Amino acid sequence: MTSISGGLVWHWRAFQRRAQWEATCRQIAGFHRRHGPCSGTLVLLGCSAGWMLESAWLKGFHRIVAVDLDPWAPHLFALRHPRVARPLWIRANALARLDQLLGDYPDAFLLFDNMLGQQGLIAVEQGRSEAGSMQRIEHELGELGRRLAGRCWGSLHDCISGPVRRPQPMPGCRSERALPAKPLLPITSALPALTAASTATVSSLSERCAAAAIETCHRVEHPRLLSRIAESGEVEPHGEWLDHLSAAIFPPALARQYLLWPFSATYWHWLEIGWVAAKAR
Ligand SMILES: C[S@@+](CC[C@H](N)C(=O)[O-])C[C@H]1O[C@@H](n2cnc3c(N)ncnc32)[C@H](O)[C@@H]1O
Repeated sequence: MTSISGGLVWHWRAFQRRAQWEATCRQIAGFHRRHGPCSGTLVLLGCSAGWMLESAWLKGFHRIVAVDLDPWAPHLFALRHPRVARPLWIRANALARLDQLLGDYPDAFLLFDNMLGQQGLIAVEQGRSEAGSMQRIEHELGELGRRLAGRCWGSLHDCISGPVRRPQPMPGCRSERALPAKPLLPITSALPALTAASTATVSSLSERCAAAAIETCHRVEHPRLLSRIAESGEVEPHGEWLDHLSAAIFPPALARQYLLWPFSATYWHWLEIGWVAAKAR
């Protein structure tokens, strides 16, 4: 099984690029430790092999229930987190199964682990790329908070993603702060080919781009996220950027962090991470 969201290609990339993703993973781990739960039951939704999760944090939970469509996930999770007690695995569509999971685990914390921002991509891959389908997905993601009312839940998800390049100095200018040539395009417009392979450049860049993270109590608009990349001076966004339809997932005033994820040398993501307290809605 492989899809644009998970499967063998994802596992191979995550394994190969773990050095380049290390700074982003460290920031994710730090956020979970500072703002997330640390014991009890954790339901992990779309966690794959937990490539971007930290074993030390997972070890605090006395029970983990993991839900993913990927049949490889349980085996690779065990290899990736050998000292974490084996989760109970459920192979299912986590969004379709959500209400049942909430009933089955009434005291559990829930974490959507980098799956919500891919629902639009999955739909496009499955041939459902019309505007109505995208609107339904965005609406469904925006309704999650209501479905989860009374529960403590968190999510890490893509906000926007797209191509980056090293800044091209312009004659007579000390530094260029270029914005993308085109405005943000909706997810239906184009699915860019993800550029294969990383280079040593990404690894060192990833450390420096960690400093570009934004901690805030409100949503940051997409143009601001893009200009933040350019401000870093390391790379600049260009071309078509994808909107991952995730803008309405969190309640407006939630404390959250935006993290840069150097997915490959030439294709980066802005991720959003947050935890919603049980009484926030
Ligand atoms: C980009 S991967 C991220 C995995 C994980 N965060 C990690 O660090 O390895 C997304 C995962 O979500 C899973 N996924 C996507 N949509 C899903 C759904 N509706 N139900 C269950 N799993 C889903 C995919 O199978 C994939 O394993």
